[in-house]
Amino acid sequence: TWLLLAALAGGYLCGSIPFGLILTRLAGLGDVRAIGSGNIGATNVLRTGNKGLAAATLLLDALKGTVPVLVAGRLAGPDAALAAGLGAFLGHLFPVWLGFKGGKGVATFIGVLLALSPLGLLVFAALWLGLAFWLRYSSASALTASAATPLVLAATGETRTALLFILLAALLWWKHAPNIRRLLDGTEGRIGQKG
Ligand code: G3P
Repeated sequence: TWLLLAALAGGYLCGSIPFGLILTRLAGLGDVRAIGSGNIGATNVLRTGNKGLAAATLLLDALKGTVPVLVAGRLAGPDAALAAGLGAFLGHLFPVWLGFKGGKGVATFIGVLLALSPLGLLVFAALWLGLAFWLRYSSASALTASAATPLVLAATGETRTALLFILLAALLWWKHAPNIRRLLDGTEGRIGQKG
């Protein structure tokens, strides 16, 4: 059990690094939480107008899910990998350094998925990118793709991973409650739209 707890804690520490906040600060763009949706994720970093920083945020917020899962899996086996993935996701959503007010989880969801199920990631990416180009709502695309992910994993027999992703998708949806409200009202911002 202590190995699982260590994996959970290690994942949490990685996941709690707020790359969006750090990168925008370093670039002299001020506090990303003061603009747009107030979120620290790549979608909101894009609202600063800096595409490179948004891409870097997406990549780093994903890698902080991928790396702990791969390391824990290598050192302590598949259960530890799942625990590290859960830890990383919780770290991103609830970072102790920011008073537990973290991101909405899309990039880290992708990163954990990359480490655990490349096929799951492929389906996620197809839905996410397809819908994002079509509808131009980052949130709606991620909500749809994340809901589909556990179904894909269950269909391919990856039951334990599917159970983890039911939990991650539920948390992701919960953190997107304001976005869901805006989507229903028709007031959600489109991708790249400043605000
Ligand atoms: O997770 C990012 C996206 O789904 C929503 O981001 O900044 O529009 O709330 P935002």
